Amino acid sequence: MACGPNVAHQFNVSCLKPPKDGALTINNILTSNGGCNNNAENTAASQNFGICKGPQVNVSCKESCGNGHVNVGKESCNGHVSFSNGHGSALNKENDNLDVLTSKVLIIGATGFIGHFVAQASVKSGRQTYAFVRPGTSKQKVVQALSDSGVHILYGCLEDYNSLVRAIRQVDIVISTVGGPQILSQLRIIDAIKEVGATVKRFLPSEFGHDVDQADPEEPALTFYIEKRKIRRAVEEAMIPYTYICCNSIAGWPYYYHTHPTELPPPSDRFEIYGDGNVKAYFVTGEDIGTYTMKSVDDPRTLNKSLHFRPPHNFLSLNEMANIWETKIHKTLPRAVITEDDLLVIAKANFMPSSIVAALTHDIFINGCQFKFPIKEPQDVEACELYPDFKYTTIEDFFSQYII
Ligand SMILES: NC(=O)c1ccc[n+]([C@@H]2O[C@H](COP(=O)([O-])OP(=O)(O)OC[C@H]3O[C@@H](n4cnc5c(N)ncnc54)[C@H](OP(=O)(O)O)[C@@H]3O)[C@@H](O)[C@H]2O)c1
Repeated sequence: MACGPNVAHQFNVSCLKPPKDGALTINNILTSNGGCNNNAENTAASQNFGICKGPQVNVSCKESCGNGHVNVGKESCNGHVSFSNGHGSALNKENDNLDVLTSKVLIIGATGFIGHFVAQASVKSGRQTYAFVRPGTSKQKVVQALSDSGVHILYGCLEDYNSLVRAIRQVDIVISTVGGPQILSQLRIIDAIKEVGATVKRFLPSEFGHDVDQADPEEPALTFYIEKRKIRRAVEEAMIPYTYICCNSIAGWPYYYHTHPTELPPPSDRFEIYGDGNVKAYFVTGEDIGTYTMKSVDDPRTLNKSLHFRPPHNFLSLNEMANIWETKIHKTLPRAVITEDDLLVIAKANFMPSSIVAALTHDIFINGCQFKFPIKEPQDVEACELYPDFKYTTIEDFFSQYII
């Protein structure tokens, strides 16, 4: 089956935009679609899983060759999977271990929010990096940037099984960073890895959040976790070597209506504090998520483990985050309380994606889901302990980028 244009709407790319004055209320969260995908679209998107329509992969490949933006090898254009023959050389090598540098890494979802951090870090680590890209992706500029940075572009999609097998055959390490609507579609990646066999040394499924075996958020986030758990069990049953990346919260003000909080600056008029604001969470920048992920991909110490990111300096409550930001802007902002009930009302409304984000916000800042369990050997390892020489970015430094 060939890949179509972007069939599935990305519910976790979209967000509810705050009103212009920045004053969010529970009511407008529930009633506004903020210019993003509405519930009906998201439902339609879910129903479209597995349905592949539109042009054939090799048609898009020709388009890519023709537009001069993506450097596609001739041979690839005759086939179905194409790749750039761009600058695959190691850039800014951070790891001198030649064995490591020979690893070839495929990132499925490299044009996405988390995926582009991982792809950047992979190139920076000096590994040959391949991005599995939908021919119909709307993110042509991201594809161009990936290609310019030395990433080989392989065209295909989750619905085109053969394109997956062809791509996976070229690499040793497969990282999936597909979004929420595609979690279960990763079963096809698992099938493809099984078909390719032992040349695949490690698979990192799309996790990049909490330990889904440890946390039990309210619905609809629980269903999302159940899907991620299904992928874990399928990986384990197939005896595919794996690492589960439990990176906790991406650095940024954790807006309870936004799946990609780094895309918004911290508040300028008032803080919204969940509960008493004293429950702590771990914050890791996107770049550091990428770097730690790439350090782990061929590290024997992370084989068949969950890798938890718990940077001690970034273990902060919302009140502490607010204090840090206020120090940066030399200003005190009012603090409005979003209660546990407020978050649960939004979660129950089943309005995507904000209900999932609200349920996760509840689990993080009311339940304390990120620290309620210990790192337990042998199944768990912690990133800062494994890689103590890596200087992660503190929230103080991270917030500085928003100061003009
Ligand atoms: N810890 C955190 O704070 C945090 C925050 C956000 C997300 N996450 C987690 O990170 C993971 C990735 O989420 P995300 O928000 O980064 O995802 P995203 O931005 O929605 O990106 C999804 C990627 O998958 C690709 N894709 C979608 N459908 C595909 C298909 N049928 N075939 C091939 N590729 C397809 C997209 O390609 P196109 O460009 O063509 O659409 C895009 O590259 C998820 O597990 C999510 O739960 C964690």
